Amino acid sequence: MYMTKLRAFSSIGLGFCSALLVVDTASAQMTLPSTKPPDGAALFRTQCATCHTTNTTDPPRQGPTLARIVGRKAGKIEGFKYTPGLARADFTWDEAKLDAWLTNPQAMISDANMAYRQAKPETRSAIIAYLKGLN
Ligand code: HEC
Repeated sequence: MYMTKLRAFSSIGLGFCSALLVVDTASAQMTLPSTKPPDGAALFRTQCATCHTTNTTDPPRQGPTLARIVGRKAGKIEGFKYTPGLARADFTWDEAKLDAWLTNPQAMISDANMAYRQAKPETRSAIIAYLKGLN
């Protein structure tokens, strides 16, 4: 870490391209230690469960239950107050739709009020695989 920072610092004078290269190397080095695949259940607990349950018995949180979400119609949980865009949605959640949603909900439905974005494809797919496994 310390060396990486030093190198990044010393290359600042070398122009945009070399600075970019150093950043690339730094992120490659930082991802090296994580050799195990991401754990979808643990990710769900830390990144989704504050706002979502996965059953229909617990009281709803800020977001609707995600019970059987893969294959479920979007925006149709009875009694949940969706934003108008999601309430009007006319599609079924599949892996591709969920992946797009978790990347950027507002890019899919502009008035969506889910305050979450996940840029890492491996994190998104681990969470989606976990949800699919609950079906
Ligand atoms: C800060 C709270 C919050 C977090 C964190 C959050 N969500 Fe949401 N989620 C919401 C809200 C609120 C909605 C309803 C959005 C609307 O009506 O526009 C929603 C809606 C959804 C929907 C659509 C449900 C339906 O009935 O169509 C899915 C799917 C979803 N979230 C998945 C996830 C997953 C998976 C995670 C974790 C990776 C997550 N959410 C994290 C608040 C959150």
